[in-house]
Amino acid sequence: MAAHKCRVMHRSLRQTPPKAFGGEGVWLFAEDGRKILDSSGGAAVSCLGHQHPRVIEAIKKQASKLAYAHTAFFSSEPAEELAEKLVGHEPGGLAYVYFVSGGSEAVEASIKLARQYFVEIGEPQRQRFIARRQSYHGNTLGALAAGGNAWRRAPYAPLLSSAFSHVTPAFAYREKHDHESEADFVARLAAELEAEFQRLGPDTVAAFIAEPVVGATAGCVPAPEGYFRAVRDICNRHGALLILDEVMCGMGRTGTLHACEQEAVVPDLLVIAKGLGGGYQPIGAVLAQARLVDAFGRGSGLFQHGHTYIGHPTACAAALAVQQVMRRDHLLQRVQRQGEGLRQRLRNAFGTHRHVGDIRGRGLFQAIELVHDRDTKATFDPALKLHARIKAQAMAHGLMVYPMGGTIDGQRGDHVLLAPPFIVSDAELDAMVERLSAAVDAALAELRATTA
Ligand SMILES: Cc1ncc(COP(=O)(O)O)c(C=O)c1O
Repeated sequence: MAAHKCRVMHRSLRQTPPKAFGGEGVWLFAEDGRKILDSSGGAAVSCLGHQHPRVIEAIKKQASKLAYAHTAFFSSEPAEELAEKLVGHEPGGLAYVYFVSGGSEAVEASIKLARQYFVEIGEPQRQRFIARRQSYHGNTLGALAAGGNAWRRAPYAPLLSSAFSHVTPAFAYREKHDHESEADFVARLAAELEAEFQRLGPDTVAAFIAEPVVGATAGCVPAPEGYFRAVRDICNRHGALLILDEVMCGMGRTGTLHACEQEAVVPDLLVIAKGLGGGYQPIGAVLAQARLVDAFGRGSGLFQHGHTYIGHPTACAAALAVQQVMRRDHLLQRVQRQGEGLRQRLRNAFGTHRHVGDIRGRGLFQAIELVHDRDTKATFDPALKLHARIKAQAMAHGLMVYPMGGTIDGQRGDHVLLAPPFIVSDAELDAMVERLSAAVDAALAELRATTA
C-alpha cells in the first residue's frame, strides 16, 4: 500500500510537523502525548495561554448569535465595542480602528491609509516610504517590500515596489560603533534618516515605518533612548507620517499596552495583531489618528480598501474578551513582573555563557543572541544552522521557542526569541530557562561533533 501522503502544504516540505491536539495555559499537547512548554506564545501570539475559558465562551456566544455579516452592509456589536476599548481615550491620540485578519493585512492597510491620506489632502507626490533593514512587516507583497530582511525579500525582489527604501536599524549590539556613545549612535541614525528624506525629496515621503522593538528578524531589539523621539521629529519636520508596527511587540508584550508608550511618541498609524486576539481568532488592526481619518471624511469619504473578513464578529468578540481579561487580571503588571523574572533567569543562565553575546528585550519579549566569539561578536557559520538545531533540541526537551538565523543581515547570526504567555508562573519560567539552557548546550555539542 502506498504511504500516506500529507496534503497540507506545510512550511517545510521535507518534514511534517506533529499535530497539536490540545492546550492548557502555557502548555501545548502533541498527538504523540508530548507536553510542550509554549515559551514563545507560538510567534508572540498567545498572551492568555491556551484554552482560556472566558475567551472560548465569548467565541461560542458570538458564533451562536451571528457568525458573519458583510461590512459593506453591516457593523457588529463586538466590532464597535472592541473599537471603543482600543481607541479614543486620549485627546489628540489614536481615535479610529480599521479591523483586518492579521499582521500583514494590517501593515498593508496602514501603507494604503498613509498613501490615500496624502491623495485626500492634495499631496499626491508623497509616494515614498522609508523603512529599516532587518525589519519584518509581513509576507504579502506590500508588507514584504516594506520589510528589510534580505533573505525573505530575495526570491520576490522583482515583484517588490521601489517605493520603499531602507536605513540602518537601531540595533545597538550590532550597529553601534565601539567608540560611540548611545547618544552619538542615535544622532548618527537620525542624520542617516534625514539624509534619506533629502535624497528622496522630503515632500515625496509619505511615511517612515518601524517596529518599536524589532521582533522575528533580529530578536527583540529595542531602540536606544531618544531614537523614536528623533524619528518623530524628522517625520514632523517633513510632514511625513510615522507608522509603528507593533504586530509582535504590542498589546502588552513589552509591559505597556503599546510598546511605543515607552518611547514617549505617538504614531500617526499604529499596527497591531497577534496579542490583540491572543491566537483565539485571526485578527489585526490599524489604529489611526483622528486627523487622518477626518481628512478621508472631508474628502472622498471612503477608504479605498477592504477584505471580505474585515471586522469579523467572531474575531472581534474573541479579541474583546482577550482585552477584557487583560484588564481584569492586571496582566500588564504581570508582564512587567514576570518579564523582570525572565530577564534575571536568562542572565543567570547565559550571562557568562561563552556563546551568548547579548541578552535583550522588554517585558515578556526577550532574546539571546548566539555568537561564536563573545569578544569579536563573530557569528557561527550560517551553513551550520545553529538556530535550527536549537529549535529541534528545544522541541526534544519539551520546549517551544522561536529561534531564527540571519540576525544581522538575513544571512549571518543566530538568536532565540522568548515570548511566553502573560500568565506564565515562576515555576514555568524556571523550567523554560532550564530547558533552553539544555537545548542550547545540546545544539552546541552537536555542532562541535559535526565540525570536529
Ligand atoms: C512586526 C510584524 N509585522 C507584521 C507581521 C505579519 O503578521 P502576520 O504573520 O499575522 O501576517 C509580523 C509577523 O510576525 C510581525 O512580527
